Amino acid sequence: MDSIKMNIQHVYDWVEEKDILKQSANAIACNQALYDGDRAGNDFLGWVKLPSSITEEQLRDIEQTSIELRSRCDVVVVIGIGGSYLGARAVIDALSNSFDWLLEKRENPVILYAGNNIGEDYLYELKKYLDKKSFGIINISKSGTTTEPAIAFRLLKELLEEKVGKDEARKRIVAITDASRGALRTLATRENYKTFVIPDDVGGRYSVLTPVGLLPIAVAGINIRKLVAGAANMEEASGPKVSFEYNLPAIYAAIRNELYKRGKKIEILVNYHPKLHYFAEWWKQLYGESEGKENKGIFPAAVDFTTDLHSMGQWIQEGERTIFETVISVKEPNHKVEIPHDDDNLDGLNYLKDKRVDEVNKMAELGTRIAHIDGGVPNLLIEIPELDEESIGQMIYFFEKACGISGYMLGVNPFDQPGVEAYKKNMFALLEKPGYEEATKAIKEKL
Ligand code: PA5
Repeated sequence: MDSIKMNIQHVYDWVEEKDILKQSANAIACNQALYDGDRAGNDFLGWVKLPSSITEEQLRDIEQTSIELRSRCDVVVVIGIGGSYLGARAVIDALSNSFDWLLEKRENPVILYAGNNIGEDYLYELKKYLDKKSFGIINISKSGTTTEPAIAFRLLKELLEEKVGKDEARKRIVAITDASRGALRTLATRENYKTFVIPDDVGGRYSVLTPVGLLPIAVAGINIRKLVAGAANMEEASGPKVSFEYNLPAIYAAIRNELYKRGKKIEILVNYHPKLHYFAEWWKQLYGESEGKENKGIFPAAVDFTTDLHSMGQWIQEGERTIFETVISVKEPNHKVEIPHDDDNLDGLNYLKDKRVDEVNKMAELGTRIAHIDGGVPNLLIEIPELDEESIGQMIYFFEKACGISGYMLGVNPFDQPGVEAYKKNMFALLEKPGYEEATKAIKEKL
């Protein structure tokens, strides 16, 4: 398996190599802590060994369930939010044909998403679309009580039962939740749904390599064994015995913390491949929820290039110099498209004739990196051989491991998210949820 590579040469104008090396012992100690479990958040370290510890039985159960859903459904709706949604979408978007869902005759079911917003129009339009389709539901919620997916599930369950009857609906609904707690577990037991467990020691944003991510990914027709193998490869390559100079997640964590200390408070994850848009969304949640606390933390943002060069490009080139970029570069595209000759050449593009589209993309990438470095934006480059299961699996584990190390280096608990409760408390108070009477009174006084 070809490994992902990291080029750090274009951070040296901002952080000297000796300063990065000074952090090596700390980065390696933080990596060790993820295995020893002697720091904050140590009850959420199950993800560290997930790739190497997943069993044949677990993989077969996921694959078997995916076959069952695929045989019954043309459309599968994945209900979930945050960590119960983004990992699956990141991988499915990265590895599926962008236009397959438009075809009448398809190899794979269409995967749609719900419960990741509270848009009334979205839910109305989704219901209308599903009314004419043979569909199933994968309902994912670790707590089993999150409002957004609970609303979506209530609506779609009702629709499905109306369409196919309760017995058939039961065969088309899979619940992924806590082993014993929460409303979804209670409902799944009562209705006799097929269920998968989200392990107690794996938090939402680190759960893509559990059934939370693997079941929807398998339903989409993607090889989950290769994905896990890619992640296992990075697990080994960043293990506790691997020294700093070979340990890519530790190096990445050390560099971003050094840049942060030098006033680089925003990191943008850059891709030049539209299929990686949701990978960046997954990355944003991973780093934002893990590090943004105690009034600290790099702000994780993401851009799709060259698209956003025509919008955000100006700010990145000449705005406040508080930014650094991490570019994901895909070495080889999966398909070949060449630019044709045109006799009239009115668009002046004949100088590109017979060149591959990717060659233009690569020159845009190189030209942009040079321009940004010249403009004061430190640059890290992560190169993957191609968009395939193994590379995506490696990147998932690379970023998860680096996030754990980086959070510990920053001095925060990378595995909790106390800040996300604030909006929920206000929303429940405003909705006058039973049990929130005091909070309702208090918030109404503020209005
Ligand atoms: O990373 C997290 O913990 C969160 O993003 C959760 O995954 C998200 O809030 C959804 O929670 P739940 O799976 O309990 O519905």
